[in-house]
Amino acid sequence: MRRVVCPGSFDPVTNGHLDVITRAAQLYDEVVVAVGANPAKVTLFTPTERVELIRDATKELDNVRVDHFEGLIVDFCRRNHISAIVKGLRAVSDFDYEMQMAQMNYSQAGVETLFMTTNPLYAFLSSSLVKEFCQYGGDVSGLVPPNVLDQLNARLSQP
Ligand code: PNS
Repeated sequence: MRRVVCPGSFDPVTNGHLDVITRAAQLYDEVVVAVGANPAKVTLFTPTERVELIRDATKELDNVRVDHFEGLIVDFCRRNHISAIVKGLRAVSDFDYEMQMAQMNYSQAGVETLFMTTNPLYAFLSSSLVKEFCQYGGDVSGLVPPNVLDQLNARLSQP
């Protein structure tokens, strides 16, 4: 079975993430979406909430499973018999950090990283920008799935 992982903090999942997950699911037998912690980020949703949001948004994709992990992504890969990580690359600004992580993960654990170019429709999109735009009353309905939109509005709508 060709199984890959799409890791991320997904706070929350956006249409850009879903585009990459859907395309990966067309290429591999199974895609595990793994919600992890990025110590550089303060999150709006708990790991359990993020997992539930992704599960709901991917429920039509039969070969996608959603999980969360703590610690290193390469240890999650080892436990789940996964040999490759799939990451979306939006712009040159993503490249340096992603390249370093990919090389670290390969050199220390033999786990490959495959980069998928982001759909140009979503090249500008990030979870952080979605939250900021929504917080100040912007319309993000075209950028996130409906279940995420509901939760963002519930959490961030101004009184
Ligand atoms: O969506 P993000 O914030 O870019 O996701 C980053 C994440 C959580 C996938 C990444 O930080 C990660 O894999 N963290 C787990 C710890 C780890 O393995 N770090 C890599 C060191 S080379």
